[in-house]
Amino acid sequence: MKKIINGLSVFLSGDNQSRTILFVHGFPYDHNMWQAQVEEFSKDYLCFSYDIRGLGESPAGDGQFTMESFVDDLEAILDEPNLNKPILCGLSMGGYISLRAMERIQNKFSALILCDTKSAADDNEGKLKRAAAIKHINSEKFYEFIDSFVLNCFGEKFVKENSTEYKRVVDRSKQNNPLGVKGCLLAMTGRTDTTESLSKINLPTLVICGSEDKLSPPDVMKSMADKISNSKFVLIENAGHMTPIENPQAVNRAIRDFLIDNNL
Ligand code: MLT
Repeated sequence: MKKIINGLSVFLSGDNQSRTILFVHGFPYDHNMWQAQVEEFSKDYLCFSYDIRGLGESPAGDGQFTMESFVDDLEAILDEPNLNKPILCGLSMGGYISLRAMERIQNKFSALILCDTKSAADDNEGKLKRAAAIKHINSEKFYEFIDSFVLNCFGEKFVKENSTEYKRVVDRSKQNNPLGVKGCLLAMTGRTDTTESLSKINLPTLVICGSEDKLSPPDVMKSMADKISNSKFVLIENAGHMTPIENPQAVNRAIRDFLIDNNL
């Protein structure tokens, strides 16, 4: 079922009203990247996923986004009556939103799952790369930007062996409004560093990383997990940055074990 909340497209699946999971996707994707997880966990959880403002079916508006406005949007979705203290699961940009949400509204969640993300803000090189990406998009090269960005997210083996699925992800990313994509790039450039707050996360936390993730590599994610007191780190083999798509069985197993271990 689809609902519009605060102008955003929110997707609900499953009918257990007491246990909920809220999935936040990465850039430049949409809620569909969680398909394998929603299929699995909607059997016994009410699963919420949504399109971050500017991506998928959520409107780009004026394209002026910040990480703060993304957390405001997340908080507005939490007002949905069925969504009581969900388990928050964010990948990459969805993880940046989740980590900032931990600083602002940790008490509104029951657990945290961080996939292929990092707490550090962009360094100078990272900011310049974002600026170059915007320039690229502005020079009528939106599709080329998507082709190269998405390729860097996936492990080589997945791209070779799953060309139909890979192409589907690329094609969907190209459906995004370039204005929304640029707004997300600016929001990520301007985000704060949340490393200092990792030690203040008191929720059971699962940290998942693809063994071939080039954007948030395993050593970076392991050191993040080490700073969160009640955390478990799981390395997903045969996957790059997009673990839920590249190795859904292993990701679902890691999430299932985490939910059982923590009585969630
Ligand atoms: C993502 O997957 O959300 C992006 O790779 C995040 C980023 O570019 O920092």
